[in-house]
Amino acid sequence: MSVEKEYHFIAISGSLRKGSYNTMALKALQQLAPSHIKIEQVHFDDIPLYNADLHTEQLPESVVPLVKKIKAADGVIIVSPEYNYSIPGALKNAIDVVSRHPDKPFSEKAVAIMGASQGQIGTARMQYHLRQVMVFLNAYVVNKPEIMIGHAQNKFDESGNLTDELLIKQLPQLLDSLARLSDKMASGI
Ligand code: FNR
Repeated sequence: MSVEKEYHFIAISGSLRKGSYNTMALKALQQLAPSHIKIEQVHFDDIPLYNADLHTEQLPESVVPLVKKIKAADGVIIVSPEYNYSIPGALKNAIDVVSRHPDKPFSEKAVAIMGASQGQIGTARMQYHLRQVMVFLNAYVVNKPEIMIGHAQNKFDESGNLTDELLIKQLPQLLDSLARLSDKMASGI
Protein backbone atom coordinates (compact mmCIF):
# COMPACT_ATOMS: atom_id res chain seq x y z
CA MET A 1 0.00 0.00 0.00
CA SER A 2 1.51 3.37 -1.00
CA VAL A 3 1.67 6.16 1.56
CA GLU A 4 0.34 9.48 0.27
CA LYS A 5 2.76 12.38 0.53
CA GLU A 6 1.83 14.95 3.17
CA TYR A 7 1.76 18.68 2.46
CA HIS A 8 1.90 21.55 4.90
CA PHE A 9 0.44 24.73 3.46
CA ILE A 10 0.02 28.05 5.20
CA ALA A 11 -2.92 30.32 4.44
CA ILE A 12 -3.26 34.08 4.90
CA SER A 13 -6.55 35.98 4.91
CA GLY A 14 -6.18 39.48 3.48
CA SER A 15 -9.03 40.70 5.67
CA LEU A 16 -8.50 41.56 9.34
CA ARG A 17 -12.20 41.84 10.26
CA LYS A 18 -13.92 39.22 12.39
CA GLY A 19 -16.84 38.42 10.08
CA SER A 20 -14.66 38.26 6.96
CA TYR A 21 -15.93 36.24 3.99
CA ASN A 22 -12.32 35.66 2.99
CA THR A 23 -11.52 34.13 6.36
CA MET A 24 -14.66 31.99 5.96
CA ALA A 25 -13.32 30.85 2.57
CA LEU A 26 -9.96 30.06 4.19
CA LYS A 27 -11.73 27.94 6.83
CA ALA A 28 -13.65 26.17 4.05
CA LEU A 29 -10.31 25.29 2.43
CA GLN A 30 -9.18 23.78 5.73
CA GLN A 31 -12.41 21.79 6.07
CA LEU A 32 -12.41 20.52 2.48
CA ALA A 33 -8.71 19.63 2.36
CA PRO A 34 -7.94 15.93 1.90
CA SER A 35 -6.30 14.29 4.93
CA HIS A 36 -2.79 14.48 3.42
CA ILE A 37 -2.98 18.29 3.14
CA LYS A 38 -2.75 20.37 6.32
CA ILE A 39 -3.48 24.09 6.15
CA GLU A 40 -2.32 26.38 8.95
CA GLN A 41 -3.77 29.89 9.08
CA VAL A 42 -1.10 32.52 9.70
CA HIS A 43 -1.64 36.16 10.57
CA PHE A 44 0.09 39.42 9.73
CA ASP A 45 -1.56 41.80 12.25
CA ASP A 46 1.75 42.47 14.01
CA ILE A 47 3.76 43.38 10.92
CA PRO A 48 4.71 47.09 11.18
CA LEU A 49 4.43 49.60 8.37
CA TYR A 50 7.45 49.36 6.13
CA ASN A 51 9.85 52.25 6.55
CA ALA A 52 13.18 52.00 4.73
CA ASP A 53 14.73 54.57 7.10
CA LEU A 54 14.04 52.33 10.10
CA HIS A 55 14.71 49.01 8.40
CA THR A 56 18.12 49.49 6.80
CA GLU A 57 20.03 47.38 9.35
CA GLN A 58 17.48 44.79 10.37
CA LEU A 59 13.76 44.18 10.03
CA PRO A 60 11.72 44.19 13.27
CA GLU A 61 11.66 40.89 15.22
CA SER A 62 7.90 40.58 14.71
CA VAL A 63 8.54 39.85 11.02
CA VAL A 64 10.65 36.74 11.64
CA PRO A 65 7.89 34.21 12.54
CA LEU A 66 5.96 34.98 9.33
CA VAL A 67 9.14 34.78 7.24
CA LYS A 68 9.98 31.39 8.78
CA LYS A 69 6.46 30.02 8.22
CA ILE A 70 6.45 31.05 4.58
CA LYS A 71 9.93 29.63 4.06
CA ALA A 72 9.06 26.27 5.67
CA ALA A 73 5.68 25.77 3.98
CA ASP A 74 5.16 23.50 0.96
CA GLY A 75 2.91 26.21 -0.40
CA VAL A 76 1.28 29.52 0.51
CA ILE A 77 -2.41 30.29 -0.03
CA ILE A 78 -3.54 33.92 -0.05
CA VAL A 79 -7.29 34.47 0.32
CA SER A 80 -8.02 38.15 0.00
CA PRO A 81 -10.68 40.76 -0.64
CA GLU A 82 -10.27 43.42 -3.31
CA TYR A 83 -10.00 46.99 -2.02
CA ASN A 84 -10.44 49.79 -4.54
CA TYR A 85 -9.75 47.41 -7.42
CA SER A 86 -6.51 46.12 -5.88
CA ILE A 87 -4.68 44.39 -3.01
CA PRO A 88 -5.73 45.53 0.51
CA GLY A 89 -3.08 47.90 1.87
CA ALA A 90 -2.42 45.93 5.06
CA LEU A 91 -1.76 42.73 3.11
CA LYS A 92 0.44 44.50 0.55
CA ASN A 93 2.43 46.09 3.37
CA ALA A 94 2.99 42.69 5.02
CA ILE A 95 4.18 41.25 1.69
CA ASP A 96 6.48 44.25 1.16
CA VAL A 97 8.00 43.88 4.63
CA VAL A 98 8.69 40.12 4.41
CA SER A 99 10.05 40.60 0.88
CA ARG A 100 12.93 42.68 2.34
CA HIS A 101 14.06 39.80 4.57
CA PRO A 102 17.38 38.35 3.33
CA ASP A 103 15.89 34.82 3.33
CA LYS A 104 13.54 35.89 0.50
CA PRO A 105 10.74 33.61 1.70
CA PHE A 106 8.59 33.88 -1.42
CA SER A 107 11.38 33.05 -3.85
CA GLU A 108 10.58 29.81 -5.71
CA LYS A 109 7.56 29.27 -3.47
CA ALA A 110 4.38 27.69 -4.80
CA VAL A 111 1.49 30.10 -4.20
CA ALA A 112 -2.27 29.89 -4.69
CA ILE A 113 -4.47 32.97 -4.78
CA MET A 114 -8.21 33.21 -4.28
CA GLY A 115 -10.62 35.80 -2.97
CA ALA A 116 -14.17 36.71 -2.05
CA SER A 117 -16.06 39.95 -2.47
CA GLN A 118 -19.65 41.05 -2.28
CA GLY A 119 -19.43 42.39 -5.83
CA GLN A 120 -19.90 40.45 -9.05
CA ILE A 121 -16.28 40.08 -10.19
CA GLY A 122 -15.11 38.37 -7.01
CA THR A 123 -11.66 39.97 -6.58
CA ALA A 124 -10.43 39.37 -10.16
CA ARG A 125 -8.65 42.74 -10.27
CA MET A 126 -6.95 42.16 -6.91
CA GLN A 127 -5.86 38.68 -8.04
CA TYR A 128 -4.13 39.93 -11.19
CA HIS A 129 -2.36 42.67 -9.22
CA LEU A 130 -1.21 40.09 -6.68
CA ARG A 131 0.03 37.79 -9.45
CA GLN A 132 2.09 40.71 -10.76
CA VAL A 133 3.60 41.30 -7.30
CA MET A 134 4.48 37.60 -7.08
CA VAL A 135 6.51 37.87 -10.30
CA PHE A 136 8.92 40.30 -8.65
CA LEU A 137 9.18 38.02 -5.61
CA ASN A 138 10.04 35.07 -7.90
CA ALA A 139 7.09 33.06 -6.56
CA TYR A 140 5.16 30.66 -8.81
CA VAL A 141 1.39 31.04 -8.76
CA VAL A 142 -1.14 28.31 -9.60
CA ASN A 143 -2.87 29.23 -12.87
CA LYS A 144 -6.00 27.13 -12.61
CA PRO A 145 -8.57 26.89 -11.20
CA GLU A 146 -9.11 30.62 -10.72
CA ILE A 147 -11.40 31.00 -7.73
CA MET A 148 -13.15 34.36 -7.65
CA ILE A 149 -16.01 34.26 -5.18
CA GLY A 150 -18.51 36.94 -6.21
CA HIS A 151 -21.64 37.78 -4.18
CA ALA A 152 -19.91 36.23 -1.16
CA GLN A 153 -22.82 37.19 1.09
CA ASN A 154 -24.85 34.42 -0.66
CA LYS A 155 -22.20 31.69 -0.52
CA PHE A 156 -21.96 31.01 3.23
CA ASP A 157 -24.54 30.13 5.88
CA GLU A 158 -25.05 32.00 9.15
CA SER A 159 -22.33 29.96 10.86
CA GLY A 160 -19.82 30.86 8.13
CA ASN A 161 -19.91 27.48 6.36
CA LEU A 162 -19.50 27.41 2.59
CA THR A 163 -22.77 26.36 0.93
CA ASP A 164 -22.05 26.89 -2.77
CA GLU A 165 -21.89 23.51 -4.58
CA LEU A 166 -19.50 24.64 -7.32
CA LEU A 167 -17.03 26.14 -4.85
CA ILE A 168 -17.20 23.02 -2.69
CA LYS A 169 -15.93 21.15 -5.79
CA GLN A 170 -13.38 23.79 -6.83
CA LEU A 171 -11.58 24.40 -3.52
CA PRO A 172 -10.04 20.89 -3.35
CA GLN A 173 -9.01 21.30 -7.02
CA LEU A 174 -7.06 24.43 -6.09
CA LEU A 175 -5.32 22.51 -3.29
CA ASP A 176 -4.48 19.70 -5.70
CA SER A 177 -2.99 22.20 -8.18
CA LEU A 178 -0.93 23.78 -5.40
CA ALA A 179 0.36 20.36 -4.28
CA ARG A 180 1.38 19.55 -7.86
CA LEU A 181 3.09 22.92 -8.31
CA SER A 182 4.84 22.44 -4.96
CA ASP A 183 6.19 19.07 -6.20
CA LYS A 184 7.51 20.75 -9.34
CA MET A 185 9.25 23.45 -7.29
CA ALA A 186 10.80 20.80 -5.02
CA SER A 187 12.20 18.87 -7.98
CA GLY A 188 13.53 22.04 -9.64
CA ILE A 189 11.08 23.52 -12.15
C1 FNR B 1 -14.26 47.28 -0.68
N1 FNR B 1 -15.02 46.37 -1.39
C2 FNR B 1 -14.75 46.13 -2.71
N2 FNR B 1 -15.31 45.08 -3.40
C3 FNR B 1 -14.97 44.81 -4.67
O1 FNR B 1 -15.47 43.84 -5.25
N3 FNR B 1 -14.08 45.61 -5.34
C4 FNR B 1 -13.48 46.68 -4.75
O2 FNR B 1 -12.67 47.34 -5.36
C5 FNR B 1 -13.82 46.96 -3.39
N4 FNR B 1 -13.25 48.02 -2.75
C6 FNR B 1 -13.36 48.12 -1.39
C7 FNR B 1 -12.57 49.04 -0.71
C8 FNR B 1 -12.60 49.09 0.67
C9 FNR B 1 -11.68 50.01 1.40
C10 FNR B 1 -13.47 48.22 1.38
C11 FNR B 1 -13.49 48.23 2.90
C12 FNR B 1 -14.29 47.36 0.72
C13 FNR B 1 -16.03 45.56 -0.71
C14 FNR B 1 -15.43 44.25 -0.19
O3 FNR B 1 -15.38 43.31 -1.24
C15 FNR B 1 -16.29 43.68 0.92
O4 FNR B 1 -16.31 44.60 1.98
C16 FNR B 1 -15.79 42.32 1.39
O5 FNR B 1 -16.77 41.76 2.22
C17 FNR B 1 -14.48 42.46 2.14
O6 FNR B 1 -13.95 41.20 2.40
P1 FNR B 1 -14.10 40.51 3.85
O7 FNR B 1 -13.67 41.48 4.88
O8 FNR B 1 -15.56 40.13 4.00
O9 FNR B 1 -13.22 39.30 3.76
